[in-house]
Amino acid sequence: MRSLFLVVPKAKGEAIRKSLLEMDALDKDFKIESDVRSVLIPVTREIDIGFELIEREGRAIERRPRSYRELVDVPEELERLLPASFDVIGGVIVIKLAEELVPFSDEIGRAMTEAYRGVRTVALDEGVKGEFRIRKLRVIYGDESLRTVHRAHGVSLEVDLSKCYFSPRISTETWRIAQQVEENEVVVDMFSGVGPFALTIAKHARPAQVYAIDSNPHAVRYLEKNIARNKVLNVRAILDDSRAAVERIEGASRVIIDLPHSSMDYFAPAVRAVEKGFVHYYEILEETDVKDRIEDLGTTARDEGKSIRLAGTRRVRTFSPSEAHFVFDLEVQ
Ligand SMILES: C[S@@+](CC[C@H](N)C(=O)[O-])C[C@H]1O[C@@H](n2cnc3c(N)ncnc32)[C@H](O)[C@@H]1O
Repeated sequence: MRSLFLVVPKAKGEAIRKSLLEMDALDKDFKIESDVRSVLIPVTREIDIGFELIEREGRAIERRPRSYRELVDVPEELERLLPASFDVIGGVIVIKLAEELVPFSDEIGRAMTEAYRGVRTVALDEGVKGEFRIRKLRVIYGDESLRTVHRAHGVSLEVDLSKCYFSPRISTETWRIAQQVEENEVVVDMFSGVGPFALTIAKHARPAQVYAIDSNPHAVRYLEKNIARNKVLNVRAILDDSRAAVERIEGASRVIIDLPHSSMDYFAPAVRAVEKGFVHYYEILEETDVKDRIEDLGTTARDEGKSIRLAGTRRVRTFSPSEAHFVFDLEVQ
């Protein structure tokens, strides 16, 4: 495409670009180009500020829309139902759609893959089920494979979403916990999945050892791949029921319990395993039940001959209109 360009000496290029921006005359659809002596600045109109003006072929700037909603074609009355948030896991987008939008799944998937760089598959989230917490996903657009590599905090995690649990929403927590781990700690991640907590800790703190336990053989296979992929030496993957596995670990200073619908069932073995240190306890709870749950945790700890202090509480995310995913940082004394 052709555009008008001002030919400006290199030394004055940046100052003139700024003036053109202020005059609303910089053509942002084209790239600024240069040769040995001059800078060629695209302009939106004829402008006389003492430099040569030429017309030539320009290199267009590729612009991506800010949201897939700028590209999607659905009936106007359904636009308000288009999801504003969704999970991006490596090259896969996971969305929930209102019933009325399901017939337009293909169109929504197309718009998403066009709008977001690196996304090749869009899948409908039909809920998490079973002991292994695997998400039922239905591919609505793109490549059928749900195997992807997700990156967060300098850690890359390979996962097959059709066989293992994974949610990118835990990443603020993985980072927060990694910041608390002190040198030479022994950390136990009782429900590790493919390793977001274990690997963020191993990569960003200096623990002596991280034990990552999961009972899903596929999750442990990816966890092992991720240990190798991230070149960390001090993470041990354990395929087992975490209640049995945690009993065998000696000298734990920190235990993470992230099985948000059943964490309470595993608190007793976790608190037993820690001589002195912390338990990070995650649970999905009604807001109104938080106080009672903290008391229950204190009682269970006492029954195990331990005393705990609530060092912090965080609301990780909203789960339903009345429930949220909470974390309690409990110091074991
Ligand atoms: C909610 S996911 C959390 C995984 C991980 N923290 C993450 O954020 O990706 C719970 C994990 O616990 C595993 N799991 C469920 N019951 C278990 C048990 N009794 N022992 C060990 N792992 C278990 C599941 O396979 C799943 O990977």
